[in-house]
Amino acid sequence: IGSCRATEVGPHADSVALSELPPRLLRVSLLGCGTVGGGVYQRLAALPELFSVVAVGTRNVEQAVEDGVPVKVLTPHLDALITEPVDVVIELLGGIEPARTLISEALRLGRSVVTANKALLANDFTKLHKASLRYSAAVGGVVPAIETINRARRLSSLQSISGVLNGTTNFILDELANGSDLAEAVRAAQKNGYAERDPKLDLDGTDAAQKLVLLARAAFDMDLPLRSIEKQGMESLNPKKIRDAKSKGRVTRLVAECRRVSGDFVASVSPSELPLDHPLACAPGVENRLLIQSQTGKLWDIGGRGAGRWPTPEAVLADLFDLRRELINAAEQEQECVA
Ligand code: HSE
Repeated sequence: IGSCRATEVGPHADSVALSELPPRLLRVSLLGCGTVGGGVYQRLAALPELFSVVAVGTRNVEQAVEDGVPVKVLTPHLDALITEPVDVVIELLGGIEPARTLISEALRLGRSVVTANKALLANDFTKLHKASLRYSAAVGGVVPAIETINRARRLSSLQSISGVLNGTTNFILDELANGSDLAEAVRAAQKNGYAERDPKLDLDGTDAAQKLVLLARAAFDMDLPLRSIEKQGMESLNPKKIRDAKSKGRVTRLVAECRRVSGDFVASVSPSELPLDHPLACAPGVENRLLIQSQTGKLWDIGGRGAGRWPTPEAVLADLFDLRRELINAAEQEQECVA
């Protein structure tokens, strides 16, 4: 953490680099303090030598105070918060507006922005995209999905990406296979902080489709319109069918996929019954899993917790560390030029 080198996840022994960077406090403001925002605040507050949280914008002041946010940094005035002189604005409001306007304004003012907002980026990526906009937290929770696609692409061009991209439906599918009913399983997913504010977005496959748009862009440089994704959610499933599949040694998963087919791309989100030894079957509960296949046949298989209070803040932190490293490098280069 804090090293100039990137973190490498692979079949090596663990090693931890000591920070090689000079101390540099990153001033951040936080838009949104719900399940993920509250988790991000707590992670930042635990690293006071690296981060200073100067403002937290939320309409749910009570919840934020419960998460330990000092009242003096809290504000319900999100527009005013954007004008605070900070290095990075972290947007965790979700949804299209006011997130879109606030992010645009923050970028216009020269701030870096870290966001987990897949709904917004699936719609407005080209309008918002800048080097100073980071969004690894929008897909996969703790799974370095976009980062691994970028690394895979450097080796060869890609043939397909497929994955379990929605933790809520994966959790619900396991609960149904074990005998719960749907309403009970949805309530448990909401209670654990996995589901979207409107869980319909999880259940009908929209959330997975939004994430697929972002992954397809990273994998194939393509602008995959959300509406072009053939989408079938949980509505077509009945719990008995899922239990029957389980008794036959098969696991039901909501699979999102985008692949090259005869010079074009085909994208879908749909439930699939998979054999127990299929990599996507081996993503239990709230886990996400991503398979990346190159045109030469090489396969990358990554997974980890995809939703809930703690996984997504790790991806936000990873983006913040990257930005911190870049700001320090830029400042050093500027000093060298002056010298
Ligand atoms: N509702 C989303 C999911 C949250 O269950 O995967 C993380 O994006």
